[in-house]
Amino acid sequence: MSKNILITGASSGLGAGMAKELAAKGHNLALCARRTERLEALQEELLAINPNISVFVRALDVTAFDDVFTVTNAFDKDFQDATGKGVERYIANAGIGAEGETVGKGKFAQNKRIIDINFTAVLAQAEAAMALFRESGKGHLVIVSSMSAMRGQRGMLATYAATKAAVAHLAEGIRADCMRKPGIKVTTLYPGYIKTELTGDNDKLPFIIPADKGCKLLVKEIEAEVDEACVPAWPWKPVGFLMRNLPLKQVAKLN
Ligand SMILES: NC(=O)c1ccc[n+]([C@@H]2O[C@H](COP(=O)([O-])OP(=O)(O)OC[C@H]3O[C@@H](n4cnc5c(N)ncnc54)[C@H](OP(=O)(O)O)[C@@H]3O)[C@@H](O)[C@H]2O)c1
Repeated sequence: MSKNILITGASSGLGAGMAKELAAKGHNLALCARRTERLEALQEELLAINPNISVFVRALDVTAFDDVFTVTNAFDKDFQDATGKGVERYIANAGIGAEGETVGKGKFAQNKRIIDINFTAVLAQAEAAMALFRESGKGHLVIVSSMSAMRGQRGMLATYAATKAAVAHLAEGIRADCMRKPGIKVTTLYPGYIKTELTGDNDKLPFIIPADKGCKLLVKEIEAEVDEACVPAWPWKPVGFLMRNLPLKQVAKLN
């Protein structure tokens, strides 16, 4: 059945790819990011894929935390006006990756920015989405974590991995809150390497897959409303088990 779905970080990579998959399945979409020209081009593309859906776009810098609430509520009204229902699924996807630096090398501001975007802003998104879902008694929150959440990572990935572990725990806590609310679901996605602007030109990353394939698999897990999923499951599910259980000496060799 068609749903009203909000995606943050929809101007490129996984956000844009998931939007295309979801449009083809007949879902209405609300898309936000900072690069609005990209969102407008994507809006046209999505309406060409499926002229029967509604697609709304708005500018959002997720680090302007108050704006996360304003934009979420504005999209909720867009959906209410168009379909009589508000936001039904919220995909907290916006994030950055490559900007981190080894802790202790004088780049506190750079590492803190990763926390602002990948964690504090995800908390704002979860707050805004859950306020709507708690009011209506139903909804689906999707949090995009990462396989790097499975264990502490060294060097430039240390802060990134910490934020991805933090959002996974946040999602699990909200899922626990909602155990007696059968209408509210929370999904945590742990993508492995999927080729996007975030992975850049590095094709040698282990088990990297193309974006279209990755987005198809992510959407499959989202549509199934699973609690959590490593994507793709092979080889990342067993790799995740190893990451969690191997001695740190061996885990540190993996990145
Ligand atoms: N690709 C992978 O291998 C991989 C693996 C694991 C997890 N992930 C996670 O998947 C998510 C999407 O990443 P991606 O690979 O699709 O990377 P991407 O192509 O670089 O896309 C990142 C998206 O986040 C948005 N964004 C970044 N900073 C923002 C800000 N301050 N305010 C609002 N939007 C912001 C960007 O939009 P604007 O720049 O237009 O604002 C863009 O749409 C991230 O959370 C990432 O950590 C990716």
